[in-house]
Amino acid sequence: MRDGPGTARPENRTCRRALRQLKRPRPEYATVMADPIARHGEFHMKPLTVFLCSLTLCVLPAQGSKAGEVADAARSGDVGTLIRLLDNGAPVDEPGVASPLHFAIMSGHHETARILLERGADPNADSALGTPLMVAAGRDRTEILALLLAHDADPNVVGGREDRTPLHTAAFSGAAEAVQVLLASGADPLARAKFGDTALHLAVQKNRTAVAEMLREVTNWTPPQPPTEADLLEADTEKGREAVQVCQVCHPLAAGKFSKGPTLWNVVGRPVAGFNDFPYSIAMREDGGTWNIARLDAFLADPRMAMPGNMMAAGNDRVEVTDRETRWALIAYLKTLK
Ligand code: HEC
Repeated sequence: MRDGPGTARPENRTCRRALRQLKRPRPEYATVMADPIARHGEFHMKPLTVFLCSLTLCVLPAQGSKAGEVADAARSGDVGTLIRLLDNGAPVDEPGVASPLHFAIMSGHHETARILLERGADPNADSALGTPLMVAAGRDRTEILALLLAHDADPNVVGGREDRTPLHTAAFSGAAEAVQVLLASGADPLARAKFGDTALHLAVQKNRTAVAEMLREVTNWTPPQPPTEADLLEADTEKGREAVQVCQVCHPLAAGKFSKGPTLWNVVGRPVAGFNDFPYSIAMREDGGTWNIARLDAFLADPRMAMPGNMMAAGNDRVEVTDRETRWALIAYLKTLK
């Protein structure tokens, strides 16, 4: 968030406090960033804080300064006032929680958005709400998406607190048309947000079936070459015993035990999502089959890519064992747990 002339105002302090909460790297807050007003039912923040933040975002552009008036005219779709203010020298991109362009898009005012863009508003400006494309994508406003793209908005510029792309936002909200427009405009389906999320991973996690189908077709991932039996015999199980400590934060090693994840006892060769009394994600339950070496190797190398939507790869829990030697040592050690 940029500081601007408005930040000394008491109303803005309330919002800044609320927005500071939003800045914490927690996945649920991404919803707020994408749509602080319309979707406040979806995330886990104190309702009062949400209400105050939403209220302040609504009130903010209505305040006294010339710049505030521009945002207010943009938000209310008041074309006449907007043109008059800009003709009189009011800034087109004001500092603050969000730019007038963000406000125009949030309230779905194509015409004020167009005027702002024609007068030089930055189509890629980041804000607490993300970029203008993210705001439009999250609401499935394809006309405004097209307008922004025609004014050189870059579909791969990241924004918001989690460095998401517009495609992430569209996938998260299940905005099917926006996903199509963005893909057609060169959005990269393999782009990873701050904690490694892909658009497909978010779509599956949020159960956006139609969007997930579209993204599956374009999200290609080649798993690493898995170890052979001989590789595993050569692997250093002592190194694997050390590496498993990371897993033990969530997984017990003893048979029959669960914590955040299920036991890793006898995991090699076990059915995927094999315990009826463990609350697996839909993604993991639907995957089927067994944990053979190749699947385990792929899953541990990149859980979000190997099984989009699974909950081991949720939020900021990054459990990627990218180093091949460590991964193979870990698998060799897991094989001994039986
Ligand atoms: C932050 C917590 C966390 C950490 C750390 C973690 N896991 Fe998991 N793991 C989970 C959760 C939660 C699930 C269930 C995922 C789901 O239902 O989508 C899971 C599922 C699994 C499964 C599938 C189990 C089954 O019964 O099908 C395997 C295999 C697995 N984890 C291996 C590992 C290994 C190996 C490590 C260490 C490198 C590890 N995990 C680290 C949370 C974690």
